[in-house]
Amino acid sequence: MIQLIEPAFYGTRMQQLSVPMDIGIPFPPPVNVEFTFIDLFAGIGGFRIPMQELNGKCVFGCEFSLHAQKAYNLNFGESPFGDITELDPTVVPKHDVLTAGFPCQPFSISGKMKGFEDTRGTLIYNVFQIIALHQPKVVFLENVKHLVHHDKGNTLKVIIKDLEELGYVVSAKVLNASDFGVPQNRERIIIIGHKTKKFDFTKLKTKPRQTLKNFLEQNANFEYLNEPYTLLADYKIQPSGLIFIGYRNKAIRKAGVRAGTENLSRVHKQPNRIYSSNGLHPALPSQETSGRFWIHHEGTVRKLTIKECYNIMGFPNEFKMINNTSELYRQVGNSVCIPMIKEIATEIKAQLL
Ligand SMILES: C[S@@+](CC[C@H](N)C(=O)[O-])C[C@H]1O[C@@H](n2cnc3c(N)ncnc32)[C@H](O)[C@@H]1O
Repeated sequence: MIQLIEPAFYGTRMQQLSVPMDIGIPFPPPVNVEFTFIDLFAGIGGFRIPMQELNGKCVFGCEFSLHAQKAYNLNFGESPFGDITELDPTVVPKHDVLTAGFPCQPFSISGKMKGFEDTRGTLIYNVFQIIALHQPKVVFLENVKHLVHHDKGNTLKVIIKDLEELGYVVSAKVLNASDFGVPQNRERIIIIGHKTKKFDFTKLKTKPRQTLKNFLEQNANFEYLNEPYTLLADYKIQPSGLIFIGYRNKAIRKAGVRAGTENLSRVHKQPNRIYSSNGLHPALPSQETSGRFWIHHEGTVRKLTIKECYNIMGFPNEFKMINNTSELYRQVGNSVCIPMIKEIATEIKAQLL
């Protein structure tokens, strides 16, 4: 039976949303609670689904996009607090695990050697304040791979150093969603802190690579490519698992392109590239305009449907999608790959809780 839950409004600045509550909640809290967590920068709940599946109870959420709040409310029956910069950390309940897929905001650090105070004015500072006050057993952070290189590696170094100053043993690793059962080449940095133990990434169980074609819909309102394109007779699987099989016949990049190299993916702007459904899909971006990639599947060239985008992020079929197409696309591109988060959370539970 589907459980009906009254929405919980956290804090004082809750936005009232018009999501009807007399419909079933696909992801109610677990019955046998084994640990608690908070869901910062919650988006549409990519952390929350796998954490709940592992019997974690979410005791606080924070997300300022009204569209994402709507989707969150519809799927979890609760509305997150809004802007984290307006959050009084004392209203956050005690919790075992703090999760945050914090926005990849350009970071400038004052460098005054004041520890985490140096990050004041950035969103990670607000996360550190919650950690300082509540000292959760585990801190579980996620960000784009580029964080490793941002400001010549300084940004990541500061985040790790600050967590250490807050009393955590920290480990970090770049992981690829394609190693966890979804056909997407999506690399993300995962940072994990615990009070005494170092998280062992080598214990994560990986899965064989999947191919995109097994995650596609059979019947839908497909958007086919309706203009000239070139398919390569000679193509190969790239080490990443992508198969660049063709391109729209648009102008190629000029700078640094040698004659005879137009069959290489990098000379074609992202929205012009075509990838085979026999390989992986490139990482879904958070803006539809920056390129929903074309795929070559069963002799046709088309775009992924929104449902297929949610499939290759590992969202369960019961997940309720709300909002217009470009908003849905933004939300899923911003989210996390659920099977990868679930495997990490499983190991967090086994090693650290
Ligand atoms: C990278 S996404 C995280 C998505 C999430 N992990 C998920 O599974 O959907 C970052 C999120 O932070 C939210 N955000 C950005 N600034 C914020 C702020 N000041 N307070 C609260 N949320 C914020 C954005 O709206 C976005 O949904």
